[in-house]
Amino acid sequence: MATPAHKLPGDADVETGADMGFHVASVSHFWLGRLVEIDSHWNPKSWSAQLFERELSSRSSVVRGLFSGNDLVGYLIAHVVCNEAHIVSFGLAPKWRGMGGGRFLLREFLRSSRLEGITVVTLDVRVTNLRARKLYEESGFEVVGIRRNYYSDNGEDALTMRLDAAEPKPNPLVDS
Ligand SMILES: CC(C)(COP(=O)(O)OP(=O)(O)OC[C@H]1O[C@@H](n2cnc3c(N)ncnc32)[C@H](O)[C@@H]1OP(=O)(O)O)[C@@H](O)C(=O)NCCC(=O)NCCS
Repeated sequence: MATPAHKLPGDADVETGADMGFHVASVSHFWLGRLVEIDSHWNPKSWSAQLFERELSSRSSVVRGLFSGNDLVGYLIAHVVCNEAHIVSFGLAPKWRGMGGGRFLLREFLRSSRLEGITVVTLDVRVTNLRARKLYEESGFEVVGIRRNYYSDNGEDALTMRLDAAEPKPNPLVDS
């Protein structure tokens, strides 16, 4: 059965982020310090403020924030070229993980990307990052490649994952 246009894989029967008090919005320069802090908790090669500044200023970068009340608790950054988006960074502050926020942020990003005409979303994930891999798989991403020794901090391999984010095409056999 075709997935309805407003749904993504894994949408059914889950609480929405809004139910849980999360909301997703764009991120302003005001949050630079918080972005650096969140990243430093999980990224062995932490990004500098200058790197985040560049992302916030770049017209080809999308920076979406997960907010709880007035606090930025997570973020997702993607680079967009034509109709393709590549997720380059995605993480939540430790105490906000495992509460559905990551799923909500990813889903909202995919939903808005689809509305803006993005047809393909890709990312790289460490082979040992089972939590993230499970979330991506449940969101419809598929492994399309492996990059050997991709992460310079420990030589770990990366899995390249890809999601076809295009609107489901009308099927004349069932939609007429
Ligand atoms: C990966 C990350 C963004 C996921 O966000 P999250 O808010 O923790 O995840 P959610 O609570 O939305 O859970 C989404 C799914 O992730 C998986 N997951 C969450 N917590 C998990 C855990 N402790 N063990 C295994 N899988 C887990 C599950 O598939 C879960 O879906 P389910 O609850 O229906 O089983 C977050 O954990 C994080 O910031 N991790 C560190 C940074 C990182 O690894 N980023 C990804 C780089 S590619």
